[in-house]
Amino acid sequence: MLRHFSIVYKDGSGGESINGKGNAMSRLKELRKYIDKKLNKMEDEDKRTGAIAHLYGVSLAAQMIAKKRNLDPELAAMAAMLHDMHAYKTGSYDDHAHLGADYARNVLTKLELTTPEETDIICSAIYHHDDKLNVDGPMDEVLKDADVIHHCMNDMSKPIKEKEQARFDRLMKEFGIES
Ligand SMILES: [Fe+2]
Repeated sequence: MLRHFSIVYKDGSGGESINGKGNAMSRLKELRKYIDKKLNKMEDEDKRTGAIAHLYGVSLAAQMIAKKRNLDPELAAMAAMLHDMHAYKTGSYDDHAHLGADYARNVLTKLELTTPEETDIICSAIYHHDDKLNVDGPMDEVLKDADVIHHCMNDMSKPIKEKEQARFDRLMKEFGIES
């Protein structure tokens, strides 16, 4: 006889729980669902495709970097998914990092996916992510580096921006890659 088993978590859900207690991927999935809906509203097809590629690309890179540095890859990925959303929403990069941190705080407060401490970590990373020439906290640095990886490797035919070159070189060294 065939039996079907399903996993039921302690909170009685199927693992899609929120409030900082769910399994790692379900929170990221929940956030991505929200962000996907917002991105899908972008009318310009090229900009929409570019935004999706960038946020998912930075999110993947952020997970790898966080893992390498013994930081929380899930939080890193969540910060990455949110980091340029304000710019995509408004169509402007003016002060987008600082305004994006406020945007992220609103989203995270609404979705109740994170503890207040986790929300602060994510928002700090977004707030600082445009300061590529400064060194900030460990998670702030993960997001900056992940952003730089995507900027430099998404289209290898493009020259690397001057303000990102040193950071990119350091990253390649950290990952043991000859550039
Ligand atoms: Fe970015």
